[in-house]
Amino acid sequence: MPRSTAAYIDLDALRRNYRTATEIAGNARAMAVVKADGYGHGIARVASALADVAPKYAVACIEEAEAIRAAGIAQPIVLLQGVHAPEDLADCEHGNFEPVLHSEHQLEWLEQSGRMPWFWLKINTGMNRLGFRPEELHAVMARMEKCAAGSRLLGFVSHFACADDTNSSMTATQTAVFEAAVSTWPALMKSVGNSAAHFISGQPLFDWSRPGIMLYGGSPVVGKTGPELGLEPVMSLEAPLITTRVVRAGESVGYGGAWVAERDTRMGMVAIGYADGYPRHAGTDTPAAVGGRRIRLIGRVSMDMLAVDLDNAPEAVEGDAVELWGRTVGVDEVASCAGTISYELLTGITNRVPRKYR
Ligand SMILES: Cc1ncc(COP(=O)(O)O)c(C=O)c1O
Repeated sequence: MPRSTAAYIDLDALRRNYRTATEIAGNARAMAVVKADGYGHGIARVASALADVAPKYAVACIEEAEAIRAAGIAQPIVLLQGVHAPEDLADCEHGNFEPVLHSEHQLEWLEQSGRMPWFWLKINTGMNRLGFRPEELHAVMARMEKCAAGSRLLGFVSHFACADDTNSSMTATQTAVFEAAVSTWPALMKSVGNSAAHFISGQPLFDWSRPGIMLYGGSPVVGKTGPELGLEPVMSLEAPLITTRVVRAGESVGYGGAWVAERDTRMGMVAIGYADGYPRHAGTDTPAAVGGRRIRLIGRVSMDMLAVDLDNAPEAVEGDAVELWGRTVGVDEVASCAGTISYELLTGITNRVPRKYR
């Protein structure tokens, strides 16, 4: 019998979070960002669950777009990293994939290929990862006007560096740079807003927003949890208690003897570890829950298991399901205890953990 460790996925909560994103976005339409296997939730199931409401999807690469098509979904799919080889342009044309072209060599491929995919241009407004500088845009657009494929340009995309920090002025600066850069072409569409941008008061989201983490209930805003922003957790990561025991005062638990009992303590071992994607950096006091009661991790996370203090859950017995994150313990809380963000935890759950859909 397989161990009962699993990530339970609530697709209704995902749909409600998508609706929240569209309500905040107002007139902007929301392309659902489902890259990285739907942020670890299973790209085919996530995309299918949103198929009757999302007019477009966004992924990082062409394999992810093909996974959505394999699920029988017809909507256009934006490729946020553009294309990786000239022949990808033919796949984009046939597959109705919309690459976001960001570099000189991608433009040359488009000019030379004779292919006619719909596409976007990425503008570097200060993130300095990908995209054309605003001062390069007129020359780029002149080239697009000369090439047949240029007629398929849908619009302009940019990405914010600091939108998660509501005190940062960087988002306003990037927005102003973006608006000035593209103002000569008002008929073309604009897309800038990741999840965090939805929570910045007065932030324009233009024609298309691009919500990712908020669809899955993770917080895009530093210092706030998903539920505090009106988002519902979608993944509940659960694993069974496989043993309970009393460690005596002075005894240690796990590798490195990193946690030592100050008094006799009833503890349990849970069948999940860093090989399942649970973060090894989550130390003593990281929250978990059993039977709706909050408990805490003790000692170091091992490859296949971790230890919990059951003092707060005296009725817990072997076989009970421990929630590592979900509705009782937020993924943002665990992320913060592990010195990371919910994105990394959700996308890091490994294939050993089955996804089960509710
Ligand atoms: C270009 C781009 N747009 C949108 C998103 C979605 O971001 P978030 O998950 O913060 O909403 C990402 C995510 O990394 C991205 O790279």
